[in-house]
Amino acid sequence: MTASPQGASAPQVPRPAPAAEPPPADSPPARSPYPAPWAGGGPRRLLEACGITRTVGDKRLLDDVSLTLDRGELKVLIGPSGGGKSTLLQCIHFLTPPDSGDVLLDGKSAREMSRRNICLFRREIGMIFQDFNLFDHLTARDNVAVALRRVKGLPKGEAYGRAALELERVGLADKALLYPAQLSGGQKQRVSIARALAMDPKVMLLDEPTSALDPELIGEVLKVIQDLHDGGMTMLMVTHQVGFARHMTHEFLFMEEGRITERGSPGELLREGSGTRTADFCSKLSEIHGRA
Ligand SMILES: Nc1ncnc2c1ncn2[C@@H]1O[C@H](COP(=O)(O)OP(=O)(O)O)[C@@H](O)[C@H]1O
Ligand SMILES: [Mg+2]
Repeated sequence: MTASPQGASAPQVPRPAPAAEPPPADSPPARSPYPAPWAGGGPRRLLEACGITRTVGDKRLLDDVSLTLDRGELKVLIGPSGGGKSTLLQCIHFLTPPDSGDVLLDGKSAREMSRRNICLFRREIGMIFQDFNLFDHLTARDNVAVALRRVKGLPKGEAYGRAALELERVGLADKALLYPAQLSGGQKQRVSIARALAMDPKVMLLDEPTSALDPELIGEVLKVIQDLHDGGMTMLMVTHQVGFARHMTHEFLFMEEGRITERGSPGELLREGSGTRTADFCSKLSEIHGRA
């Protein structure tokens, strides 16, 4: 765990993120609908971001940020709004290439890749956004199938078959022919997860996947994320659902002012009397939402 810089400006408390029930400690291990192909094969270290820096104008959005993800691992990124979490995910995806630093996926450096290989690299990283990013004019099935056809070049029947499988896994088999406007927020987010998974990513980056949802819809999306975790998917998730996340992760990364200022196990960082910025931040979340 690294020390947190204290003082400076007061942290901005993020938008409301109602609490979700963590699974009861004595519940039997859930059976994931995913066949766990993700955890196997290759070296333990799957992703490494090193020395990521990004500056816009005279503002340093990311300042020498490094993190690693082992195969099958979930890490949770938390921190005040404006701290650089979304920018970091975009840099890891090379959607916004960092000014300096590199991302290695399965040991291959994004920095050294040709344009074509960068497209392949991006395909291996699934991104989930808080506002779903679905095409409004396409059904759930077509939202999933469109990239399979255009990017992977699958024929229509095959793309529809894979879309049906992914929609079934997120519990939406019976909603395949509905349009986004006919779906709830939780259902839309599950379609967007199905779409990302259809591309066979090695790792998923989730940027506040439940923060645009009504409280009663959060649980259904967290259940899918739990299924993915149980199936061995490697994930980096920005969330304020600390109560849920602390049961699934070995490491919280606390980010503010463009830097990861604390990292450690939830138990270590949130321990009573730990005096960490993470504990202070999470107690503010729980003051607002009743629990963290
Ligand atoms: N393209 C951009 N140009 C200028 N400033 C940006 C840009 N994108 C993000 N920022 C700024 O970078 C900081 C970090 O933003 P962001 O990564 O969205 O933080 P978070 O996801 O932690 O809320 C914010 O101050 C934001 O206003
Ligand atoms: Mg953000």
